[in-house]
Amino acid sequence: MSDLRESLNQTREEFEKKIKEIQNLADIEKIRVEYFGKKGKLTGVLRGMGNLTPEERPEAGKMVNEVRAKMEEVFAQSQAKMKALESSYKLKKEVIDVTLPTHYEGCGARHPLNNAINEICDIFLGLGYSIGEGPEVEYDKYNFELLRIPKGHPARDTQDTFYVSDNILLRTQTSGMQIRIMEELTKNGGKPPIKVVCPGKVYRQDTLDATHSPVFHQIEGLVVDKGVTMGDLVGSLRLFAKKLFGENTEVRLRPHHFPFTEPSVEVDLTCWKCGGKGCNVCKGEGWIEVLGAGMVHPEVLENCGIDSSVYSGFAFGIGVERTTMGRYGIDDIRLLYENDVRFLKQFK
Ligand code: DAH
Repeated sequence: MSDLRESLNQTREEFEKKIKEIQNLADIEKIRVEYFGKKGKLTGVLRGMGNLTPEERPEAGKMVNEVRAKMEEVFAQSQAKMKALESSYKLKKEVIDVTLPTHYEGCGARHPLNNAINEICDIFLGLGYSIGEGPEVEYDKYNFELLRIPKGHPARDTQDTFYVSDNILLRTQTSGMQIRIMEELTKNGGKPPIKVVCPGKVYRQDTLDATHSPVFHQIEGLVVDKGVTMGDLVGSLRLFAKKLFGENTEVRLRPHHFPFTEPSVEVDLTCWKCGGKGCNVCKGEGWIEVLGAGMVHPEVLENCGIDSSVYSGFAFGIGVERTTMGRYGIDDIRLLYENDVRFLKQFK
């Protein structure tokens, strides 16, 4: 019995001395194993109780329990203290001084595509147009159906589309905005005139290469009024071209087909680099194709509640990438989307 007491006291003293010397949570874990573990010292002392007589056991049990409770209490306190110390040390170590000076990247600038969109829209604002915007995730009926491109129409093949569901898609052209603008007006009992440009992103299932991108920008134009003619279309485009590319710029129309305009044209401008002589930018042609246009098909007007025997209109769609690339001599469309600062810096 006195042997037991002595070895208990010895174990406890040794334990208390050691626990005072711990430096971190790993040390405290070591002590836990050393004393309280299955093969630990305290457990070893308890095993020694097997040699006691049955009379001695109750008293020994009480003594052992008391010592163990004390030791466990000391252990828990040290453990808590150590945990607190370690976490405050970690917090201090991880402090970030947000006031330190950093490497200054300089001030950004507008993206060349946004510059072009702003510039083009400004020209039309000056001609009395307003600006309209609409969703990039669009209903099939606006992007195709009401523009006289029904399901199965071959024009859908050239505008291979990203579908969200059967009737919802990523718009392949801003022409759907023509419908939205006219519908919005007549729905509330309004009547033309309409004069609007609608810039925005469009999407097609094209693989990215030097001249194609699955997302690009168009600016749609729409004018509807009494007595609007092809002459008005040509006059407006000529004004636009001269404002954007200079007084000497000329406009050339080539017959084309779009389902929503009749007649339809593709529109070329004299090359902004060589002025029409022929160079590498226009591939010797002297002309560069910049937009599609035409007189709004009477059926499209009727689809939107506009009386085509009273009103007529013209529409056009400008390719923003092509215009921008031509102006700045950019030969790879990917440069416009990679946002490499070394490239963008040149347009400040
Ligand atoms: N939406 C046509 C396209 O993406 C471009 C276009 C052609 C727009 C004729 C028009 C238009 O408004 O009248 O190819």
